[in-house]
Amino acid sequence: MPDDNMENVHMVTCTAPVNIAVVKYWGKRDEDLILPINSSLSVTLHQDQLKTTTTVSTSKSFREDRLWLNGKEEDISQPRLQSCLREIRRLARKRRNDDDPDSDSTSLSHKVHICSINNFPTAAGLASSAAGFACLVYTLAQAFGVEGELSAVARQGSGSACRSMYGGFVQWIMGQQLDGKDSLAQQVEPETHWPELRILVLVVSAERKPVGSTSGMQTSVQTSCLLKHRAESVVPGRMVAMIDAVRRKDFTAFAELTMKDSNQFHATCLDTYPPIFYLNSVSHQVINMVHRYNQHYGETRVAYTFDAGPNAVIFTLQQHVPDFTQAVRHFFPPETNGGEFVKGLPVPQTDISAELKQAIGLEPMPTGISYIISTKAGPGPCVVKDPTQHLLGPIGLPKYTVRHHAQEGANGVNHKIVANM
Ligand code: DP6
Repeated sequence: MPDDNMENVHMVTCTAPVNIAVVKYWGKRDEDLILPINSSLSVTLHQDQLKTTTTVSTSKSFREDRLWLNGKEEDISQPRLQSCLREIRRLARKRRNDDDPDSDSTSLSHKVHICSINNFPTAAGLASSAAGFACLVYTLAQAFGVEGELSAVARQGSGSACRSMYGGFVQWIMGQQLDGKDSLAQQVEPETHWPELRILVLVVSAERKPVGSTSGMQTSVQTSCLLKHRAESVVPGRMVAMIDAVRRKDFTAFAELTMKDSNQFHATCLDTYPPIFYLNSVSHQVINMVHRYNQHYGETRVAYTFDAGPNAVIFTLQQHVPDFTQAVRHFFPPETNGGEFVKGLPVPQTDISAELKQAIGLEPMPTGISYIISTKAGPGPCVVKDPTQHLLGPIGLPKYTVRHHAQEGANGVNHKIVANM
Protein backbone atom coordinates (compact mmCIF):
# COMPACT_ATOMS: atom_id res chain seq x y z
CA MET A 1 0.00 0.00 0.00
CA PRO A 2 1.17 3.53 -0.73
CA ASP A 3 2.15 5.60 2.30
CA ASP A 4 3.90 8.88 3.07
CA ASN A 5 5.65 10.05 -0.05
CA MET A 6 2.65 10.31 -2.39
CA GLU A 7 3.72 13.32 -4.46
CA ASN A 8 5.91 11.18 -6.71
CA VAL A 9 3.33 8.97 -8.40
CA HIS A 10 4.30 8.96 -12.07
CA MET A 11 1.44 8.00 -14.40
CA VAL A 12 0.93 7.20 -18.07
CA THR A 13 -2.13 5.94 -19.97
CA CYS A 14 -2.20 4.36 -23.44
CA THR A 15 -4.63 2.49 -25.68
CA ALA A 16 -4.08 -0.46 -28.02
CA PRO A 17 -6.19 -2.17 -30.69
CA VAL A 18 -7.63 -5.63 -31.35
CA ASN A 19 -6.42 -7.40 -34.49
CA ILE A 20 -8.03 -10.11 -36.61
CA ALA A 21 -5.83 -12.59 -38.46
CA VAL A 22 -6.48 -13.36 -42.13
CA VAL A 23 -3.57 -15.83 -42.19
CA LYS A 24 -3.89 -17.55 -38.82
CA TYR A 25 -1.26 -18.24 -36.18
CA TRP A 26 -1.90 -21.69 -34.69
CA GLY A 27 0.91 -23.66 -33.05
CA LYS A 28 4.14 -22.87 -31.21
CA ARG A 29 7.63 -24.22 -31.65
CA ASP A 30 8.69 -22.69 -28.29
CA GLU A 31 6.09 -22.37 -25.54
CA ASP A 32 8.07 -20.07 -23.24
CA LEU A 33 9.28 -17.55 -25.77
CA ILE A 34 6.02 -17.93 -27.78
CA LEU A 35 7.61 -18.70 -31.14
CA PRO A 36 5.13 -19.79 -33.83
CA ILE A 37 5.35 -22.64 -36.35
CA ASN A 38 4.20 -20.29 -39.15
CA SER A 39 4.06 -16.61 -40.03
CA SER A 40 0.68 -14.85 -39.89
CA LEU A 41 -1.01 -11.68 -41.10
CA SER A 42 -3.73 -9.53 -39.57
CA VAL A 43 -5.76 -6.38 -39.91
CA THR A 44 -5.71 -4.01 -36.93
CA LEU A 45 -9.26 -2.94 -36.01
CA HIS A 46 -10.14 0.67 -35.28
CA GLN A 47 -9.88 1.71 -31.63
CA ASP A 48 -13.01 3.86 -31.84
CA GLN A 49 -14.91 0.57 -31.66
CA LEU A 50 -12.57 -1.89 -29.92
CA LYS A 51 -9.67 -1.03 -27.66
CA THR A 52 -7.92 -1.69 -24.38
CA THR A 53 -6.91 1.26 -22.16
CA THR A 54 -4.12 0.79 -19.63
CA THR A 55 -2.70 3.09 -16.97
CA VAL A 56 0.69 2.33 -15.45
CA SER A 57 1.76 4.23 -12.36
CA THR A 58 5.10 3.98 -10.61
CA SER A 59 6.14 5.26 -7.23
CA LYS A 60 8.87 4.82 -4.69
CA SER A 61 6.12 4.25 -2.13
CA PHE A 62 4.51 1.21 -3.86
CA ARG A 63 5.45 -1.96 -2.02
CA GLU A 64 4.63 -4.46 -4.77
CA ASP A 65 3.61 -4.73 -8.41
CA ARG A 66 -0.21 -4.89 -8.67
CA LEU A 67 -2.71 -5.34 -11.49
CA TRP A 68 -6.43 -4.64 -11.97
CA LEU A 69 -8.25 -5.94 -15.08
CA ASN A 70 -11.71 -4.61 -15.87
CA GLY A 71 -12.06 -3.40 -12.29
CA LYS A 72 -10.93 -6.56 -10.52
CA GLU A 73 -7.52 -7.18 -8.93
CA GLU A 74 -5.69 -10.06 -10.63
CA ASP A 75 -2.69 -12.19 -9.77
CA ILE A 76 0.36 -10.46 -11.22
CA SER A 77 2.57 -13.53 -10.79
CA GLN A 78 1.27 -15.18 -14.02
CA PRO A 79 4.38 -16.11 -16.04
CA ARG A 80 3.36 -14.20 -19.18
CA LEU A 81 2.79 -10.97 -17.28
CA GLN A 82 6.10 -11.48 -15.52
CA SER A 83 7.89 -12.00 -18.87
CA CYS A 84 6.60 -8.65 -20.14
CA LEU A 85 7.51 -6.79 -16.94
CA ARG A 86 10.97 -8.38 -16.81
CA GLU A 87 11.69 -7.63 -20.50
CA ILE A 88 10.67 -3.97 -20.23
CA ARG A 89 12.76 -3.48 -17.08
CA ARG A 90 15.71 -5.19 -18.81
CA LEU A 91 15.40 -2.92 -21.87
CA ALA A 92 15.13 0.13 -19.61
CA ARG A 93 18.29 -0.88 -17.74
CA LYS A 94 20.12 -1.49 -21.01
CA ARG A 95 19.06 1.87 -22.41
CA ARG A 96 20.14 3.70 -19.29
CA ASN A 97 23.52 1.99 -19.24
CA ASP A 98 24.08 2.49 -22.97
CA ASP A 99 23.20 6.04 -23.70
CA ASP A 100 21.18 7.85 -21.12
CA PRO A 101 22.73 7.41 -17.68
CA ASP A 102 21.21 10.66 -16.38
CA SER A 103 17.68 9.87 -17.49
CA ASP A 104 15.13 11.08 -14.98
CA SER A 105 12.42 8.61 -16.00
CA THR A 106 11.06 6.05 -13.58
CA SER A 107 13.59 4.42 -11.32
CA LEU A 108 14.03 0.78 -12.20
CA SER A 109 13.54 -0.23 -8.61
CA HIS A 110 10.07 1.32 -8.44
CA LYS A 111 7.08 -1.00 -8.30
CA VAL A 112 4.19 -0.57 -10.74
CA HIS A 113 0.45 -0.42 -10.38
CA ILE A 114 -1.32 -1.39 -13.61
CA CYS A 115 -5.01 -0.89 -14.39
CA SER A 116 -6.58 -2.01 -17.65
CA ILE A 117 -10.09 -1.94 -19.16
CA ASN A 118 -11.68 -2.91 -22.48
CA ASN A 119 -14.30 -0.76 -24.22
CA PHE A 120 -16.08 -3.93 -25.33
CA PRO A 121 -17.73 -6.61 -23.16
CA THR A 122 -15.55 -9.64 -22.35
CA ALA A 123 -18.78 -11.61 -22.77
CA ALA A 124 -18.71 -10.75 -26.47
CA GLY A 125 -16.02 -13.44 -26.71
CA LEU A 126 -13.65 -11.22 -28.68
CA ALA A 127 -10.01 -12.07 -28.13
CA SER A 128 -8.92 -9.43 -25.68
CA SER A 129 -5.48 -10.86 -24.84
CA ALA A 130 -3.90 -9.37 -27.99
CA ALA A 131 -5.05 -5.82 -27.24
CA GLY A 132 -4.42 -6.37 -23.52
CA PHE A 133 -0.78 -7.43 -23.77
CA ALA A 134 -0.02 -4.94 -26.57
CA CYS A 135 -1.38 -2.18 -24.35
CA LEU A 136 0.48 -3.42 -21.27
CA VAL A 137 3.83 -3.53 -23.08
CA TYR A 138 3.35 -0.20 -24.84
CA THR A 139 2.32 1.56 -21.61
CA LEU A 140 5.10 0.00 -19.51
CA ALA A 141 7.61 1.07 -22.18
CA GLN A 142 6.32 4.65 -21.95
CA ALA A 143 6.54 4.57 -18.16
CA PHE A 144 10.12 3.26 -18.15
CA GLY A 145 11.32 5.37 -21.11
CA VAL A 146 11.90 2.40 -23.43
CA GLU A 147 11.72 3.06 -27.17
CA GLY A 148 12.04 1.05 -30.36
CA GLU A 149 10.95 -2.44 -31.36
CA LEU A 150 8.49 -3.78 -28.79
CA SER A 151 6.61 -6.48 -30.71
CA ALA A 152 9.04 -9.16 -29.48
CA VAL A 153 8.11 -8.21 -25.89
CA ALA A 154 4.34 -8.17 -26.60
CA ARG A 155 4.73 -11.58 -28.30
CA GLN A 156 5.87 -13.03 -24.96
CA GLY A 157 2.55 -11.96 -23.41
CA SER A 158 0.40 -13.54 -26.13
CA GLY A 159 1.51 -14.47 -29.64
CA SER A 160 -1.18 -12.50 -31.46
CA ALA A 161 -0.42 -9.41 -29.29
CA CYS A 162 2.73 -8.68 -31.29
CA ARG A 163 0.56 -7.80 -34.30
CA SER A 164 -1.48 -5.28 -32.23
CA MET A 165 1.71 -3.17 -31.86
CA TYR A 166 1.11 -1.72 -35.35
CA GLY A 167 -1.84 -0.27 -37.23
CA GLY A 168 -3.20 -1.29 -40.62
CA PHE A 169 -2.04 -4.56 -42.18
CA VAL A 170 0.56 -6.38 -40.10
CA GLN A 171 2.61 -9.53 -40.59
CA TRP A 172 4.23 -11.55 -37.81
CA ILE A 173 7.35 -13.04 -39.32
CA MET A 174 7.94 -16.39 -37.62
CA GLY A 175 11.75 -16.01 -37.57
CA GLN A 176 14.44 -18.69 -37.40
CA GLN A 177 16.53 -17.93 -34.32
CA LEU A 178 16.27 -19.99 -31.14
CA ASP A 179 16.19 -16.85 -28.97
CA GLY A 180 13.23 -15.44 -30.91
CA LYS A 181 14.90 -12.09 -31.64
CA ASP A 182 13.81 -12.32 -35.28
CA SER A 183 10.21 -13.34 -34.51
CA LEU A 184 8.70 -9.88 -34.95
CA ALA A 185 5.67 -8.03 -36.22
CA GLN A 186 6.04 -5.64 -39.12
CA GLN A 187 3.59 -3.26 -40.77
CA VAL A 188 2.82 -4.26 -44.37
CA GLU A 189 0.61 -1.24 -45.15
CA PRO A 190 -0.78 1.52 -42.88
CA GLU A 191 -4.49 1.84 -41.99
CA THR A 192 -4.92 4.59 -44.61
CA HIS A 193 -3.94 2.23 -47.44
CA TRP A 194 -7.37 0.71 -48.14
CA PRO A 195 -10.00 3.19 -46.90
CA GLU A 196 -12.99 1.38 -48.48
CA LEU A 197 -12.35 -1.82 -46.55
CA ARG A 198 -14.96 -2.45 -43.83
CA ILE A 199 -15.12 -4.99 -41.04
CA LEU A 200 -18.28 -6.31 -39.38
CA VAL A 201 -17.93 -8.35 -36.20
CA LEU A 202 -21.01 -10.58 -35.91
CA VAL A 203 -21.27 -11.35 -32.22
CA VAL A 204 -22.77 -14.81 -31.90
CA SER A 205 -24.63 -15.73 -28.76
CA ALA A 206 -22.60 -18.65 -27.39
CA GLU A 207 -23.67 -20.86 -24.49
CA ARG A 208 -20.29 -22.25 -23.48
CA LYS A 209 -16.75 -20.96 -23.29
CA PRO A 210 -14.65 -22.67 -25.97
CA VAL A 211 -11.23 -24.30 -25.43
CA GLY A 212 -8.64 -21.52 -25.00
CA SER A 213 -6.24 -20.91 -27.89
CA THR A 214 -3.09 -21.62 -25.84
CA SER A 215 -4.09 -25.17 -24.90
CA GLY A 216 -6.00 -25.77 -28.15
CA MET A 217 -2.96 -25.11 -30.31
CA GLN A 218 -0.78 -27.25 -28.03
CA THR A 219 -3.01 -30.26 -28.67
CA SER A 220 -3.07 -29.47 -32.40
CA VAL A 221 0.76 -29.39 -32.58
CA GLN A 222 0.89 -32.75 -30.79
CA THR A 223 -1.76 -34.55 -32.82
CA SER A 224 -2.59 -32.93 -36.17
CA CYS A 225 -0.57 -33.83 -39.26
CA LEU A 226 -2.76 -31.43 -41.22
CA LEU A 227 -1.38 -28.60 -39.05
CA LYS A 228 2.20 -29.65 -39.88
CA HIS A 229 1.35 -29.69 -43.60
CA ARG A 230 -0.34 -26.29 -43.29
CA ALA A 231 2.63 -24.67 -41.51
CA GLU A 232 5.27 -26.13 -43.81
CA SER A 233 3.61 -26.22 -47.21
CA VAL A 234 0.59 -23.90 -47.27
CA VAL A 235 1.24 -20.78 -45.18
CA PRO A 236 4.55 -19.70 -46.79
CA GLY A 237 2.90 -19.31 -50.22
CA ARG A 238 -0.28 -17.88 -48.70
CA MET A 239 1.67 -15.13 -46.91
CA VAL A 240 3.22 -14.01 -50.22
CA ALA A 241 -0.17 -14.08 -51.98
CA MET A 242 -1.92 -12.26 -49.11
CA ILE A 243 0.68 -9.47 -48.91
CA ASP A 244 0.37 -9.05 -52.68
CA ALA A 245 -3.46 -8.91 -52.50
CA VAL A 246 -3.29 -6.28 -49.71
CA ARG A 247 -0.73 -4.16 -51.58
CA ARG A 248 -2.82 -4.25 -54.79
CA LYS A 249 -6.09 -3.79 -52.83
CA ASP A 250 -7.43 -6.79 -54.73
CA PHE A 251 -10.57 -7.57 -52.72
CA THR A 252 -11.39 -10.82 -54.53
CA ALA A 253 -7.94 -12.29 -53.89
CA PHE A 254 -7.87 -10.98 -50.30
CA ALA A 255 -11.36 -12.37 -49.56
CA GLU A 256 -10.74 -15.81 -51.01
CA LEU A 257 -7.43 -16.25 -49.21
CA THR A 258 -9.05 -15.08 -45.96
CA MET A 259 -11.93 -17.58 -46.17
CA LYS A 260 -9.67 -20.47 -47.23
CA ASP A 261 -7.27 -19.77 -44.39
CA SER A 262 -10.07 -19.62 -41.80
CA ASN A 263 -11.49 -22.88 -43.15
CA GLN A 264 -8.10 -24.57 -43.03
CA PHE A 265 -7.52 -23.40 -39.47
CA HIS A 266 -10.86 -24.91 -38.41
CA ALA A 267 -10.03 -28.06 -40.38
CA THR A 268 -6.83 -28.41 -38.32
CA CYS A 269 -9.01 -28.05 -35.20
CA LEU A 270 -11.15 -30.98 -36.42
CA ASP A 271 -7.95 -32.90 -37.25
CA THR A 272 -6.79 -32.35 -33.66
CA TYR A 273 -7.35 -35.36 -31.40
CA PRO A 274 -9.66 -35.09 -29.51
CA PRO A 275 -11.17 -32.63 -31.99
CA ILE A 276 -11.81 -28.98 -31.13
CA PHE A 277 -15.04 -27.32 -32.31
CA TYR A 278 -15.01 -23.56 -32.39
CA LEU A 279 -17.78 -23.01 -34.94
CA ASN A 280 -21.43 -23.56 -34.04
CA SER A 281 -24.61 -23.76 -36.12
CA VAL A 282 -24.81 -19.96 -36.35
CA SER A 283 -21.23 -19.81 -37.66
CA HIS A 284 -22.08 -22.48 -40.25
CA GLN A 285 -25.15 -20.51 -41.33
CA VAL A 286 -22.97 -17.37 -41.76
CA ILE A 287 -20.54 -19.36 -43.94
CA ASN A 288 -23.37 -20.64 -46.15
CA MET A 289 -24.94 -17.23 -46.33
CA VAL A 290 -21.71 -15.54 -47.45
CA HIS A 291 -21.09 -18.07 -50.21
CA ARG A 292 -24.67 -17.83 -51.49
CA TYR A 293 -24.53 -14.03 -51.28
CA ASN A 294 -21.37 -13.91 -53.38
CA GLN A 295 -22.77 -16.49 -55.80
CA HIS A 296 -25.94 -14.43 -56.27
CA TYR A 297 -23.96 -11.34 -57.30
CA GLY A 298 -21.50 -13.35 -59.38
CA GLU A 299 -18.51 -11.85 -57.55
CA THR A 300 -16.75 -12.11 -54.19
CA ARG A 301 -18.17 -9.14 -52.26
CA VAL A 302 -17.90 -10.52 -48.74
CA ALA A 303 -15.47 -12.75 -46.79
CA TYR A 304 -15.67 -14.38 -43.35
CA THR A 305 -13.05 -15.43 -40.84
CA PHE A 306 -13.41 -17.10 -37.43
CA ASP A 307 -10.91 -17.36 -34.56
CA ALA A 308 -11.09 -19.62 -31.51
CA GLY A 309 -14.83 -19.06 -31.01
CA PRO A 310 -18.12 -18.86 -32.96
CA ASN A 311 -18.08 -15.09 -33.76
CA ALA A 312 -17.82 -14.25 -37.45
CA VAL A 313 -15.65 -11.40 -38.66
CA ILE A 314 -16.76 -10.16 -42.07
CA PHE A 315 -14.64 -8.19 -44.53
CA THR A 316 -16.35 -6.26 -47.31
CA LEU A 317 -16.14 -2.95 -49.16
CA GLN A 318 -18.03 0.12 -47.95
CA GLN A 319 -20.51 0.07 -50.87
CA HIS A 320 -21.78 -3.41 -49.94
CA VAL A 321 -22.19 -2.87 -46.18
CA PRO A 322 -25.89 -1.79 -46.12
CA ASP A 323 -27.05 -4.62 -48.43
CA PHE A 324 -25.08 -7.32 -46.62
CA THR A 325 -26.11 -6.05 -43.17
CA GLN A 326 -29.76 -6.19 -44.25
CA ALA A 327 -29.26 -9.80 -45.33
CA VAL A 328 -27.78 -10.59 -41.88
CA ARG A 329 -30.79 -8.88 -40.25
CA HIS A 330 -33.14 -10.99 -42.37
CA PHE A 331 -31.49 -14.37 -41.77
CA PHE A 332 -30.69 -13.68 -38.10
CA PRO A 333 -33.69 -11.60 -36.97
CA PRO A 334 -32.63 -9.71 -33.81
CA GLU A 335 -34.61 -9.49 -30.61
CA THR A 336 -37.14 -6.69 -31.11
CA ASN A 337 -36.21 -4.89 -27.89
CA GLY A 338 -32.63 -6.10 -27.62
CA GLY A 339 -31.04 -2.66 -28.06
CA GLU A 340 -29.37 -1.46 -31.24
CA PHE A 341 -28.40 -4.27 -33.61
CA VAL A 342 -25.58 -2.41 -35.36
CA LYS A 343 -23.02 -0.64 -33.16
CA GLY A 344 -20.01 1.38 -34.29
CA LEU A 345 -19.77 3.00 -37.74
CA PRO A 346 -23.32 3.87 -38.87
CA VAL A 347 -24.90 1.62 -41.51
CA PRO A 348 -27.81 3.05 -43.57
CA GLN A 349 -30.84 0.73 -43.55
CA THR A 350 -32.05 -0.67 -46.89
CA ASP A 351 -34.45 -3.39 -47.99
CA ILE A 352 -33.41 -6.88 -48.97
CA SER A 353 -34.49 -7.83 -52.50
CA ALA A 354 -36.81 -10.80 -53.01
CA GLU A 355 -34.20 -12.29 -55.40
CA LEU A 356 -31.44 -12.19 -52.77
CA LYS A 357 -33.72 -13.70 -50.13
CA GLN A 358 -34.58 -16.50 -52.51
CA ALA A 359 -31.00 -17.03 -53.66
CA ILE A 360 -29.77 -17.40 -50.07
CA GLY A 361 -32.83 -19.47 -49.21
CA LEU A 362 -31.85 -20.38 -45.64
CA GLU A 363 -34.22 -20.82 -42.73
CA PRO A 364 -33.87 -17.66 -40.55
CA MET A 365 -32.24 -18.24 -37.12
CA PRO A 366 -33.84 -15.72 -34.73
CA THR A 367 -31.42 -14.09 -32.24
CA GLY A 368 -28.49 -16.22 -33.48
CA ILE A 369 -26.47 -13.02 -33.73
CA SER A 370 -26.69 -10.70 -30.71
CA TYR A 371 -25.33 -7.62 -32.46
CA ILE A 372 -22.90 -6.37 -35.10
CA ILE A 373 -19.89 -4.12 -34.48
CA SER A 374 -19.23 -2.12 -37.64
CA THR A 375 -15.62 -0.94 -37.93
CA LYS A 376 -12.62 -0.52 -40.24
CA ALA A 377 -8.82 -0.79 -40.14
CA GLY A 378 -7.20 1.48 -37.58
CA PRO A 379 -3.95 2.71 -36.03
CA GLY A 380 -1.61 1.03 -33.55
CA PRO A 381 -1.19 1.86 -29.84
CA CYS A 382 -1.22 5.51 -28.74
CA VAL A 383 -0.58 7.62 -25.64
CA VAL A 384 -3.61 9.31 -24.05
CA LYS A 385 -2.56 12.90 -23.28
CA ASP A 386 -5.59 13.95 -21.20
CA PRO A 387 -4.70 13.27 -17.52
CA THR A 388 -8.40 13.00 -16.57
CA GLN A 389 -8.45 9.71 -18.49
CA HIS A 390 -6.03 7.93 -16.14
CA LEU A 391 -7.61 4.78 -14.70
CA LEU A 392 -5.67 5.13 -11.44
CA GLY A 393 -6.26 7.92 -8.96
CA PRO A 394 -3.59 10.17 -7.39
CA ILE A 395 -2.43 7.53 -4.90
CA GLY A 396 -2.19 4.85 -7.57
CA LEU A 397 -5.37 2.92 -6.83
CA PRO A 398 -8.14 2.29 -9.40
CA LYS A 399 -10.75 5.01 -9.79
CA TYR A 400 -13.35 2.31 -10.44
CA THR A 401 -13.57 -1.28 -9.26
CA VAL A 402 -16.11 -4.01 -9.76
CA ARG A 403 -18.12 -5.59 -6.95
CA HIS A 404 -19.29 -9.09 -7.75
CA HIS A 405 -22.75 -10.28 -6.82
CA ALA A 406 -23.31 -13.87 -5.83
CA GLN A 407 -26.15 -14.35 -8.32
CA GLU A 408 -25.78 -13.91 -12.03
CA GLY A 409 -28.46 -11.65 -13.51
CA ALA A 410 -30.74 -12.61 -16.39
CA ASN A 411 -28.56 -10.77 -18.88
CA GLY A 412 -25.37 -12.44 -17.70
CA VAL A 413 -24.23 -9.35 -15.81
CA ASN A 414 -23.13 -10.23 -12.29
CA HIS A 415 -21.14 -7.20 -11.27
CA LYS A 416 -21.52 -3.57 -10.45
CA ILE A 417 -19.03 -0.81 -11.17
CA VAL A 418 -18.28 1.26 -8.10
CA ALA A 419 -16.54 4.64 -8.09
CA ASN A 420 -13.74 4.76 -5.52
CA MET A 421 -13.21 8.47 -5.47
C1 DP6 B 1 -7.02 -18.26 -33.57
O1 DP6 B 1 -2.33 -15.32 -29.46
O2 DP6 B 1 -4.38 -16.06 -28.19
O3 DP6 B 1 -6.73 -16.02 -32.82
O4 DP6 B 1 0.06 -17.10 -28.05
O5 DP6 B 1 -1.07 -18.83 -26.67
O6 DP6 B 1 -1.55 -16.40 -26.27
P1 DP6 B 1 -1.17 -17.47 -27.29
O7 DP6 B 1 -2.38 -17.57 -28.32
P2 DP6 B 1 -3.21 -16.41 -29.03
O8 DP6 B 1 -3.74 -17.24 -30.32
C2 DP6 B 1 -4.48 -16.62 -31.33
C3 DP6 B 1 -5.05 -17.63 -32.23
C4 DP6 B 1 -6.02 -17.14 -33.29
C5 DP6 B 1 -5.31 -16.83 -34.60
C6 DP6 B 1 -4.54 -15.54 -34.70
O9 DP6 B 1 -4.88 -14.55 -34.04
O10 DP6 B 1 -3.60 -15.54 -35.51
